[in-house]
Order: sequence, then C-alpha cells, then structure tokens
Amino acid sequence: MAPDTLDSIRRTIRDVPDFPKPGILFKDITPVLANPALLAQTIDGMIEATGITKVDKVVGIDARGFIFGALIAARLGAGFIPVRKKGKLPWQTRGVDYALEYGTNSVEMHLDAITPGETVLLADDLLATGGTAAAALHLIGQAGGRVLGSTFFIELAFLGGREKVSGPGPVHSLITY
Ligand code: PRP
Ligand code: MG
Repeated sequence: MAPDTLDSIRRTIRDVPDFPKPGILFKDITPVLANPALLAQTIDGMIEATGITKVDKVVGIDARGFIFGALIAARLGAGFIPVRKKGKLPWQTRGVDYALEYGTNSVEMHLDAITPGETVLLADDLLATGGTAAAALHLIGQAGGRVLGSTFFIELAFLGGREKVSGPGPVHSLITY
C-alpha cells in the first residue's frame, strides 16, 4: 500500500478517550468505513499484506470482524464463515471459551462451516491481547481447516497478542500502535 494512503487511513481513525471505560483510548474505525475510497483501500491492503490470492473460506469474528471478513471474502471469491458469540448460531456448533481481562467469553462456529482440508484466512478488525483470534483459530483447527494466515486492520502491538495467534499461519496487520 502507498505510504500516503496508509497515512490517510491512520489520520481518519478517530481517538475516543475514556471509551468504553475511563482510561481507555478507543480507536474508532467508523470514519474509515464511512469513506468509500478508504474502505476499499483498507480491504485491499488487508488482503495484499497476506499475499493470498486464493482461499476457500474467510472466517470473520462477531461483530466487527464480520465487516472486514465478508468484504475480504467477496474480493477473494471465497466463502464467508462467521465465528459468533455463544448462543447466536442456529445449527450445530463447536465452541471454545477464552479468557478476558476479567472473566471469560465463548465463541462458536457451525460444525459444517469448514470442510477438513479447506484453506482459511482469518480476519478481524483488531488484534489486542489475541484471545479472541486465538479462540477462532482453535475452532478452525478443530474443523480441519488449513490456516493460510490471519489479517487484522489494527494491531495493538504493546499488548503482545501476536504471540498468541502465531503458529497456524503468518499474522498481518495494516496499522500498528
Ligand atoms: C474486540 C475486537 C476484537 C477483539 C480483540 O471485539 O473487535 O474482536 O476485541 O481483542 P483481544 O485481541 O484482546 O481478544 P469485541 O468482542 O470487544 O467487540 P465487537 O463485538 O464489536 O467485535
Ligand atoms: Mg470483535
């Protein structure tokens, strides 16, 4: 991606102090999503970073990962698979619990979402502690998916999430803080 495009994207991400809790500086991506040129460039950039031109399935994580995952899937001519928060998927699922800063969370994927041996790209808006993406990668692995890589719009590198998701495939992010 051209450095000036990356700069425009970076400048368009809005810092919101004290959201959702005091002391947290929230990176609001909605102004990027609302800009037609920047949205297209972001999706292209997230694909380009992986070097992938062909993949069977793109997995996106509930909720913001759906935006990126579905657009990436359409661009690559791949199927889109949602990993959802517990209790949202209607058919038979496989689930996994993962630790949050306080407490735990659960995500699920349909049992027939991925056929063993299919190639998979994981997409989400944000790599923070890595717990969410690691849980999704676990589900993909259990389903027999072959992970070609993971792509994130934003990575909060100071939280060290990359270590948790490295292994199944290379990890890419467009914007790093
Ligand atoms: C946010 C973000 C990532 C995840 C990253 O999801 O969208 O999915 O946290 O955090 P981690 O690397 O520490 O696991 P969240 O469920 O908070 O919100 P969303 O439903 O808007 O995607
Ligand atoms: Mg999320």
